[in-house]
Amino acid sequence: MRLADRIGLGLMHRMDPERAHGLALQALRAGLVPLPGLVTSARLRCEVAGLRLANPIGLAAGFDKNAVALSPLSRAGFGFIEAGAVTPKPQAGNPKPRLFRLTDDRAVINRFGFNNKGMEDVVARLTARPRDAVLGLNLGANKDSDDRAEDFARVLSRCGPHLDFATVNVSSPNTEKLRDLQGAEALSALLKGVMEARDWLERPIPVFLKIAPDLSDLELSEVAEVAQAGGVAAIIATNTTLDRSGLQSPMRDEAGGLSGAPLFERSTRVLARLSELTDGRMPLIGVGGIGSAGQALEKIRAGASAVQLYSALVYEGIGLVERIALGLDKLLEENGYSNISDAVGTGRDAWL
Ligand code: FNR
Repeated sequence: MRLADRIGLGLMHRMDPERAHGLALQALRAGLVPLPGLVTSARLRCEVAGLRLANPIGLAAGFDKNAVALSPLSRAGFGFIEAGAVTPKPQAGNPKPRLFRLTDDRAVINRFGFNNKGMEDVVARLTARPRDAVLGLNLGANKDSDDRAEDFARVLSRCGPHLDFATVNVSSPNTEKLRDLQGAEALSALLKGVMEARDWLERPIPVFLKIAPDLSDLELSEVAEVAQAGGVAAIIATNTTLDRSGLQSPMRDEAGGLSGAPLFERSTRVLARLSELTDGRMPLIGVGGIGSAGQALEKIRAGASAVQLYSALVYEGIGLVERIALGLDKLLEENGYSNISDAVGTGRDAWL
């Protein structure tokens, strides 16, 4: 880690975590953070669900909820970025404090509850998006909505013209009963509405589905079946967990979703199981606890065509993105892979 990053992170970790995150976004926007620009190579370039990526390392949803820092984030070394979650109406989210660092566990707990400025505010910035980035939006539903399923379609209709992909997020644990939409019947109906909205777009974009790591085996196989039948282009596995096993930090009993290092194993098992359930035919994006190039490769070998990360940035800073991308390139070379796609699923059985 660069010295300036270490000092910056040291200062931020003395602040309230939500305030520190706001400052990090402001510093990015103000151009105060050195960024590497495009990080790519013949080994890292890949195509996932029709999207051409410079590298397979993506920014997970929740970091830039209101799409305020798309331009700097597109130069931070990511192969793709996912903004949001965005809901139709602006929403304040849960009372503060609602973001907690679990430093001893290299983890984070959040219970934001889809705080965001709403689709009308966000769309204004999406229209001015960086054209050379691969940009997706995490779709959410308002807490007080009469028809949450319809909310996903509404945000897609409004923002879709400015996106390269959209993600149906029915896996956040912080909106009561949202995860119920992962049930076969509800999910099938929800996807039907979303796909209709997608088909109305002048340039129909791939729709991804993001799932929780806390589904039973039966629920997971149902989700896989419904996703395939419903025209989902890729599954993102996984969102945060409600599980709290093995944590040391004083904040471990805070309510919300846990992410970061302790999520790695659980989310990778779900990923491998999904790869098996879909016979390796559905593109999968592996998320949960990635903090190194080795872990990115483990996810890919477990069945992911690309990966995303968030929590490790809290501990390592944005410079981690370039380190992981370059480290992954080196690992691929050392392991005799000429392209990332050759590594996908090669280590799946170890996780089943
Ligand atoms: C998230 N995550 C998330 N996911 C999502 O689909 N929509 C969202 O709005 C958010 N918001 C959010 C806020 C915060 C503060 C965190 C830490 C996480 C989940 C995130 O995208 C990712 O799936 C998990 O955090 C697991 O990856 P990491 O963080 O372990 O790399």
